[in-house]
Order: sequence, then structure tokens, then C-alpha cells
Amino acid sequence: MNNFIFQNATKVYFGKGCVKEYLVCLTKNANTVLLAYGGGSIKSNGVYDKVTGMLKEAGKTVVEFDRIMSNPTYAKVQEGAKLARENRVDMILAVGGGSVMDCCKAVSLAARYDGDIWEDFWARPGVMDFEPLPLGVIVTVAGTGSGCNGGAVITNEEKKIKTGRDYPKLNPRFALMDPTYTYSVPKGQMVSGSFDILSHIMETYFSEPNEDNVSDDIMEALMKSVIRNLRAAIRNPEDYTARSNLMWDSTMAENRVIKMGKRCDFQCHNMEHQLGAYTDCNHGCGLAVLHPVYYRHIYKEGLSKFVRFAENVWGIARDGASDEELALAGIDALAAFIKEIGLPTTLKELGARKDQLKEIADSCGISGGSYKQMTHGEILEIFQECYE
Ligand code: NZQ
Ligand code: ZN
Repeated sequence: MNNFIFQNATKVYFGKGCVKEYLVCLTKNANTVLLAYGGGSIKSNGVYDKVTGMLKEAGKTVVEFDRIMSNPTYAKVQEGAKLARENRVDMILAVGGGSVMDCCKAVSLAARYDGDIWEDFWARPGVMDFEPLPLGVIVTVAGTGSGCNGGAVITNEEKKIKTGRDYPKLNPRFALMDPTYTYSVPKGQMVSGSFDILSHIMETYFSEPNEDNVSDDIMEALMKSVIRNLRAAIRNPEDYTARSNLMWDSTMAENRVIKMGKRCDFQCHNMEHQLGAYTDCNHGCGLAVLHPVYYRHIYKEGLSKFVRFAENVWGIARDGASDEELALAGIDALAAFIKEIGLPTTLKELGARKDQLKEIADSCGISGGSYKQMTHGEILEIFQECYE
């Protein structure tokens, strides 16, 4: 394995009833709480009433920061930071998915920083030599794993750049994860969020080293868990076992554990983020379109791992097939799964225009961890192959 340092500062409270049991205690040192949420799902599923009821009963002043959009923008971050400063907020409580949590991580930083956080922390990595505003989260959808890391993906609409940074100081202080809160997630979002989980694992698994390492073994178990539990949750959206596994799968995929000793690729994420910057497409849907095509471009350079993927994740028997045939059968199984769960398979379906593809391709970051170093020309080829 490669050398590593491991730390994860977020304390996780997991399971049915955890919000009721722990929220008041976890917010006891805050007088004024910035309650942040998205477009209103927490109002229709009753989570808003529960949370505000508990905070108000505990005597907190609650300042609301709402309408955080999917693919949160830098302008929205600035709005939240202004609200936090003006109201002398002591703590941010983010209730939602990756978009709400990511936006709030950036708000927690911007509220305590006088400069331009985009220029100093997102355009390039920065040094955070101060404490951001404390942040706690209530996770309402499985997918990004943002509840247990310092990652925040922000879109700068003016510059047409969507990019993420992971600062350990932005790890939430606590993350409350009640799988029953995800029962109300619509099927389309549940499926795209689950594909995002699979993508985080694959982007890590398909990278050096290929020698025996415990991270790859954990990842095979996680990928099988996502596939099995997503199928179960599609059959029965209120299957607690399935929903709780998906919630923990999403956390395990992005709490840094599986990245230990791995280089990590994330080329598909770099490409999807720029598609998002130009089209505002759904993150998991964008990834679903890209992955099989990208993997057909790189499998020869990572052949032994693609063979392992086919055999250990999809259970494909060799039956006299060559390594290349087996590797391609694994990628075909992934593509078939994407169709089975109803995700899009073309960029056209995501709303991308053909005449934009070159500009988008040229704006994509190039990963240093891919089995095969991409060029902007090859990214454009991948986009064109994915188009329709
Ligand atoms: O906005 P509301 O009304 O709350 O509805 C949301 C939204 O429409 C809905 N939803 C969430 N919980 C629900 C629910 N609907 C019903 N019941 C519930 N319990 O789901 C929709 C999508 O929410 P969103 O937060 O946008 O989705 P997701 O969690 O997939 O987050 C996507 C964002 O996270 C970034 C993505 O790029 C994207 O911007 N990522 C963050 C990462 C990180 N911080 O580690 C890593 C990822 O790779 C990713 O890039
Ligand atoms: Zn992702």
C-alpha cells in the first residue's frame, strides 16, 4: 500500500430515531442556529417541523437559509455567509443532501474569512489557518457521502467552473443519519444517488496500486452492497435494511477509509462536474452516462483490475474467456445495470448540446491517478461517443 495519514473528525450518530435522541444535546452550545435546507422536501416529509420544533423548544434562535439548489452556486454561498454574519450565528445545521451540506461547508468558511473564498480556496488549494463556523448535518439522502468528509463541490456560474475541494477542517462536527428520512426520496434521485456511491468506489478501485491491498477488498464488498440494496430499495422504498445499508455505503465510500493507500482516479467526476457547470445536470445521472464509455477507453491499461471487477463484483465466470473479454464483460455488466435501474445513457438526455462539447471537454481537469492519462482530445472523443 502507499503511505497515508488517516483522520476523520466527524462524529456519526446513525439509525432510526437518532435526530430525536441527540439533536438537542449536540446543539446545546449554540444560541443562534442557521437552519439550512433545499427546495422544500423537508417541509413535505415532516423533517422541518420535527427539527424546528426541537430547536425552538430548546430556546434557540433559528435563522433560516433555504432554497439551496442542486449544484450549489458560489452566489448562494455568499448569501448564506452574509446571513450568518448579520445574525451572529453560532452554528450551522444543514438538513439535506450533498448540495445543502456542500453549500454549508463553504458558508462555514466564508462566514469566518474576509477574502474571496473562491479565489483562495476553490480556484486553488488554500491554507485554512483559522476555525470555520461549526457545522452539523442531518443527512436526508444517500449519495455523496458529504456528511462525513470535508469535501464541498461549488459551481462558479460566472466562470463556468464546478469544482470540489476537501479540507479536513470542513468536516461536519456531527452527522445525524436516520435512514427512515430517505424513504421520501423520489426513485430517480435514489437511483442517481446510489450510482454516485458506486462511482466514488469505482473511481478509487480503478487506480494503482493493483497489488493485494485491503482497500480494494473493502471496495468489492461495498460495490456488491450498493447493487444488492439498491435493487431491494427499488422493490420496496421503505425497506429499512436496504435504506440503512445505502446510507452507510455512501458514507463508507467518501469518509476516506477506502482511499487509504490508493492513488484514486476521479477523472469521470472531473468530466461530470464540468458537464454540470454547463448544463446543471444531475450529478449521478452525468456519471452514469460517462463511466462505461470512459472504462472502455482505459481498461487495457488496468486490465488485471477490470478482470477482478468482472469476476468479484459481477460474478462473471471466465469460461475460457481471455482477460480482455472478461474485462469487457464486466464493463458490459455495469452498462446493463445502469439501464436496469433507469439511468440515462446519453449526454443528449442530460441536456448537453453537441456544439458545446469541445468547450466543455477543454475545461475538464485531468486526473493524475487514472490508469491512462487523459488528454482533452480523448475527453472530447468520450463525450462524442456518449452523445446519443
Ligand atoms: O432540495 P430539496 O427540496 O431538499 O430536494 C432534494 C433535491 O431535489 C431531494 N431530496 C433530498 N433529500 C430528500 C429529497 N427529496 C425527498 N426526500 C428527501 N429525504 O433530492 C434532490 C437532490 O439533492 P442534492 O442534495 O442536490 O443531491 P446529492 O446528495 O446527490 O448532492 C449533489 C451535489 O453534491 C456534489 C454534487 O456534485 C452535487 O453538487 N458532490 C459532493 C461530494 C462531496 N461533498 O463529497 C462528492 C460528490 O462526488 C459530488 O460531486
Ligand atoms: Zn460524486
